[in-house]
Formats: sequence, C-alpha cells, structure tokens
Amino acid sequence: MAPNHVSIFVIFLAIMSTISMISANTSNPLLTLDYYQSSCPRLLSIVRREMECAVLSDPRNAAIIVRLHMHDCFVQGCDASVLLDDTVTLKGEKKESQNKHSLRGFKLMDRIKMMVESECPGAVSCADILTLAARDAVILVGGPYWDVPLGRKDARSTNHELADANIPGANEGLLSLISKFAYQGLSVTDMVALSGAHTIGMARCENFKARIYGDFDTTSEKDLMSQTHLSNLRSICPAVGGNNNVSALDYVTPDLFDNSYYQILVKGQGLLNSDQQLYSSILGIETRHLVHKYAEDALMFFKQFAESMVKMGNITNADSFVNGEVRNNCRFVNSLSSIE
Ligand code: HEM
Ligand SMILES: *[C@@H]1O[C@H](CO)[C@@H](O)[C@H](O)[C@H]1NC(C)=O
Ligand SMILES: *[C@@H]1O[C@H](CO)[C@@H](O)[C@H](O)[C@H]1NC(C)=O
Ligand SMILES: *[C@@H]1O[C@H](CO)[C@@H](O)[C@H](O)[C@H]1NC(C)=O
Repeated sequence: MAPNHVSIFVIFLAIMSTISMISANTSNPLLTLDYYQSSCPRLLSIVRREMECAVLSDPRNAAIIVRLHMHDCFVQGCDASVLLDDTVTLKGEKKESQNKHSLRGFKLMDRIKMMVESECPGAVSCADILTLAARDAVILVGGPYWDVPLGRKDARSTNHELADANIPGANEGLLSLISKFAYQGLSVTDMVALSGAHTIGMARCENFKARIYGDFDTTSEKDLMSQTHLSNLRSICPAVGGNNNVSALDYVTPDLFDNSYYQILVKGQGLLNSDQQLYSSILGIETRHLVHKYAEDALMFFKQFAESMVKMGNITNADSFVNGEVRNNCRFVNSLSSIE
C-alpha cells in the first residue's frame, strides 16, 4: 500500500469516529434485560416458538429476519420504522433502494406480533420483537446466543431519505462501507463481524452481476474466483435479465451460521463486491486482518458477532423514546392524529 493511501485512511478514520460520537447513541441506559418481566413474562418463549416454526419450515426465514432488523436499526435507530406500510400521509422505507423487491419477513413479523398481542395486549413494541426474533434466528441456524436488552419504542415516523442514504449497497467501496457503519456508531471490527451475517441467506443477481461480469474494477481478486465457480454464478445470473434469480451468499454452508463466509473471502469468492472488499481492498489492512482471524477461529467470530449485534440493537434515538409508542399493528402507527 502506498504511504499516501495509509495517511488518507488514518485521517478518514479519525473524522469518522468523531462523526459517530455525535450522531449515534449506542449506550442507552433505558434498555434492560428484564423490561417485560411483569408485563409479558412469557415474551421470550413466544418469540422463540414462532421463530422455531418459521425457520423449520424455511431456514431462509432466519436470514430474512436478521436483515430486516439491520435495515431497521440503520434508519433512525431500532424503532420498527422499517415495518410501516405506505399510507396516504406516510411514506414508508420499504420502497427505498436497498429494500425494494428485496426486504421480506413482514408477514412473519405480523404473525409473531399477533401471538404476543394475544397474550400481552399493548405491552411489547414491534422493535423489541424484531430484535428478539433476530437473536433467535441466529441461534436456530447454529449461531451464538446473546442476551437482548429491551425497552425500545416504536417510531411514529419513517425516514425514507435516510433509508436510501444509510443502508449500504453491494457495490460500495470499503471506505464508504466503513463510513456508513461509523455513522451508526459501529466500528470497523463491528462491521467485519456483522457482515458475517452473510454466512446465511441469499442475494439477487442484480446485486452481484457487476462482480461476476467485471464491470466493477476496484478489486482484481475476481480473477481468483475459479472458472467453475464463476460459470456457475453466471448460469444463475445471465449478463442480461434474471435480476431476481438468487444465489447463496455463503455457497459452502448456505443455511448454517458458521465462519465459512470468511473462508470464502480468503479464497476470493465473496458473492458481493462489498463482501470481497473486506478482504481484498487495497485500503483494507485492518479488515483483512479481521477476516483472517474469523476465518481461522469460529469462536472468536461468534463472540464478536454477539457483542456487535447487541451494539447494533442498542442504536436508538431520543425521539422514539419521547414520542414513540407500542404499536398495535406493526404496519401502522396507532392513531392518525399522532402523525406530524
Ligand atoms: C457491510 C455492508 C452490507 C452490505 C453492502 C449488504 C448488502 C446486502 C445485499 C445486497 C444483500 C442481498 C439482497 C438482495 O439481493 O435481495 C444482502 C443480504 C443479506 N444481508 Fe447484508 N449487507 C451488509 C451488511 C449486513 C449486516 C450488518 C447484516 C446483519 C447483521 C446483514 C444481513 C444480511 C442477510 C442475513 C442477508 C440475506 C437475506 C435473505 O436471504 O433474504 N447484512 N446484504
Ligand atoms: C445517550 O443517551 C442517554 C440516555 O438517553 C443520555 O443520558 C446521554 O446523554 C446520551 N449521550 C449522548 C452522547 O447523546
Ligand atoms: C447495550 O445497551 C445496554 C443497556 O443500555 C448496555 O448495558 C450495554 O452495555 C450495551 N452494549 C453494547 C455492546 O453497547
Ligand atoms: C435466471 O433468469 C433467466 C432470465 O429470467 C432465466 O432464463 C434463467 O433460467 C434463470 N436461471 C436460474 C438458474 O434461475
């Protein structure tokens, strides 16, 4: 790496960590482990049971819920804003660039919410249900356990501009990815560990076409991809059309939460440009080191993933605590009069 690259990168990181200190509050003391102890004592087992059914019927439901949680937290904090449907007076986040034709799990969330409501009416926020469901999703496909701090409120508003601007896309370069995580108060280590969620789930052809046909040139390691692997991907994802055909993000163990995602990156076979950037970007000294560590040590990955998921789940905004509510239906705010 050229020295000027190094110094630009160091300055960049310094700026980003300053921005993150003022833009996000990742340690909100209002969240507690026993928040629903008296209002909904069986909450955890209700969510777990519904997630068990869902993942048993289709393991991809685990991936779908984990991603839904992330896309919630990256826009004005984990406040279930992502679950709101478009109405005459409210423009939701579901149609923004990274969500459109892609984000799923809304019916599953409706189902879990219904079960929780039938036992504890009006008590538990959709944001907390989604956070718990994401934790259970990870466990159910073989990943680590962690305790989930609770007490989030559901937003009465959405922010479709932030949904468009803050959620990272498949063809972004490393610095842009780092800055989007830093904006959320998440470190480079958090970013590399959380990206390990791509050890489960699928991506659409639209999101890896540039990578397998080479019109994306900030990395050269696609050359490392074996010809067989490349032609497999190209048969799923033709140069023209087929944008919604899907391929596993981790083709080795697509339904298992393990560290093979990182092993794939070391081999140059990450599906998304954004995945491969973590290992192959010329600016990625620190990220490459972390990818190596997690590729070699699954337990270290699990430990960091659990910690970073708590940190991501801790992203909150003061407004949703002051003006938020426990929604009756995850798709709609409780009363029209509450919309500003
Ligand atoms: C580093 C930045 C990230 C980028 C650029 C990114 C991008 C993407 C893209 C493009 C897809 C495929 C969507 C589609 O084709 O429909 C995807 C899927 C997925 N992402 Fe990410 N992602 C990132 C980080 C994360 C994080 C932090 C998590 C959770 C902790 C996550 C969880 C998932 C999961 C589980 C899937 C599979 C969803 C499914 O099967 O439906 N991603 N991501
Ligand atoms: C973070 O949130 C807590 C609780 O709302 C508050 O006391 C604290 O001042 C906030 N910190 C920052 C940096 O905004
Ligand atoms: C998350 O928030 C809880 C409660 O506010 C706090 O105890 C915990 O230390 C936070 N964890 C991380 C990793 O930020
Ligand atoms: C992908 O999409 C194309 C065009 O829509 C279709 O012809 C092709 O059979 C699909 N391939 C797979 C593997 O789904």
